[in-house]
Amino acid sequence: MKKLLKDQFAKYIPLPENNYELDLSAEYHDYFKEKSYFQKICQNLSLEQLFTMFKTDKAQIYYRVVYSHRQKRFVRSIVEGHNYGGTYEKIFQKNRKNIKKIIEIGSLEGGSTAAFHFYFLNAKIHCLDISFDRNKIVSRRITKHYVDQSDEEQLKSFINNKLIKNDLDIVIDDGSHKANDILITFKNLFPKIKKNGWYVIEDLSKSWNKDVLKFLNNKKNTILPKNVNNKIGRIFSKRSEKSWSKNNKQNYVYFIQKK
Ligand SMILES: C[S@@+](CC[C@H](N)C(=O)[O-])C[C@H]1O[C@@H](n2cnc3c(N)ncnc32)[C@H](O)[C@@H]1O
Repeated sequence: MKKLLKDQFAKYIPLPENNYELDLSAEYHDYFKEKSYFQKICQNLSLEQLFTMFKTDKAQIYYRVVYSHRQKRFVRSIVEGHNYGGTYEKIFQKNRKNIKKIIEIGSLEGGSTAAFHFYFLNAKIHCLDISFDRNKIVSRRITKHYVDQSDEEQLKSFINNKLIKNDLDIVIDDGSHKANDILITFKNLFPKIKKNGWYVIEDLSKSWNKDVLKFLNNKKNTILPKNVNNKIGRIFSKRSEKSWSKNNKQNYVYFIQKK
């Protein structure tokens, strides 16, 4: 089984095996330098391949250091992720070159930011997080902003700093995953999306995010203002069908289009 998984994983990795250990720090490699060798390779990969390569849990399968209870130590392992790549590609593949502005809430080590950076080649990405200690990515197309999504004042002052008009193509909320934060962030950032742009909410849980799911599944019940609610267009959702998702409650992703 382990060999089977490793072989599967190897298919996704475009780099030689001894490069697996590369972290995302610009100090150690040149992924993010314009016209680098890596740039050329990365530009031709699917979003799913990029998710796998940059080790984000949006991938179907990815490499990670995890704690082994059996061995009582950290081990290098291959783990299953949320498998969101296919759904992202279905929605964005045709239009990927026209995506100019993205906001990503929650970037952690920058794995997903890196994947989006190489998939949406003409996009500027604004990362919002409460900490960038582990995120060492440097690119002229990526900007990091210290914003706590639970604090409406911080969200408002970020929006008012003139970087953001009504010109967002995509907003991805992969931040705190708390229901109240998700709703506050949606209320403030959804109006800033362009017509036909998309708002993505990841890792929703039936038990922890009841209010959010209620609002997404029955817009009339929303606690959001009418002007925000009326602009909600098509909604796509996907439930992770992977084995671990039976135990892991955060298994829904929602894509909401602006009218
Ligand atoms: C699940 S991780 C993001 C993973 C990343 N998007 C990826 O796919 O690799 C969640 C991130 O949300 C950030 N976060 C947690 N609470 C937050 C808040 N209130 N406001 C903004 N970011 C928050 C954490 O610091 C962390 O970096």
